[in-house]
Amino acid sequence: MKDKIIWITGASSGIGEALVYLLHEQGAKLIISSRNRDALYRVKQNCKNNSIDIHVLPLDLEQTEILPEKAALALKIFGRIDILIHSAGISQRALAINTGLKVAQQLMDVNFWGAVSLTQGLLPSMISAGGGQIVVVSSLVGKFGTRLRSAYSASKHALHGYFDSLRIETEEHNIHITIVCPGFIKTNLTFNALLADGSAQNTMDDAQENGMMPDECASKIIKAVASKKREVYIGGREKYAVLIKRFFPGYFAKMIRKAKVV
Ligand SMILES: NC(=O)c1ccc[n+]([C@@H]2O[C@H](COP(=O)([O-])OP(=O)(O)OC[C@H]3O[C@@H](n4cnc5c(N)ncnc54)[C@H](OP(=O)(O)O)[C@@H]3O)[C@@H](O)[C@H]2O)c1
Repeated sequence: MKDKIIWITGASSGIGEALVYLLHEQGAKLIISSRNRDALYRVKQNCKNNSIDIHVLPLDLEQTEILPEKAALALKIFGRIDILIHSAGISQRALAINTGLKVAQQLMDVNFWGAVSLTQGLLPSMISAGGGQIVVVSSLVGKFGTRLRSAYSASKHALHGYFDSLRIETEEHNIHITIVCPGFIKTNLTFNALLADGSAQNTMDDAQENGMMPDECASKIIKAVASKKREVYIGGREKYAVLIKRFFPGYFAKMIRKAKVV
């Protein structure tokens, strides 16, 4: 990753933050984004050497109308972007029947439309530069649905449809797209997950508490990106749910119905 110019959203926390530290260690030049400017500066300050190579660019993915402008700003910082990593995201902890359209749309805006908009802003420059890489942090629930995650799961499924299609359209331009599907990673995701009224859950789920550490997840993501993998599943035993669904769909349906959380 030495001297690669990499833009990471969701860089203030969790998987995105862990990616910042590892990529910085490997000599990448970084643009780091999320809403919380102070948290982004904290992350930048945690990077020991050459933090001049880390540029903070705050943005709110819910404000989809300003994202093309943010993409143009990001491009000006180092003159090009080699790798765009979409790690920002919010989750959900509410039944579909109780989740109003406003909350469902918020999940779609942040998790799906935000990623689409930033990608569209960068694609022409990547194509004219002769190629680039796009990394999309989806989820295992981008491969199957489960309780309390209807709109979250929908937003992650949408990422697969969009970026699988985009991969086919842009392969000839040397654009490589890696979709990452984490299982349980120990981050603030469930703490910030939206309840039916749009407020944050403010508690950590047990599964996340006992999940993989974000630095291990980030290291596996970087390996997948370096080898230009199309799709990768990262986590503990829960990642086998994808295979069980594919090969034993009837058994999977029973299993997921009984699961407390996935
Ligand atoms: N942790 C897991 O177990 C797990 C499992 C599957 C998938 N994932 C996915 O992994 C990705 C990273 O999540 P995480 O686990 O690292 O959770 P996290 O610690 O809560 O980090 C989420 C990041 O998204 C940013 N963000 C949230 N809303 C935003 C908005 N409106 N605009 C811009 N940035 C926003 C947050 O920063 P600000 O608050 O500063 O905006 C934060 O940096 C997400 O896409 C998530 O869906 C995580």
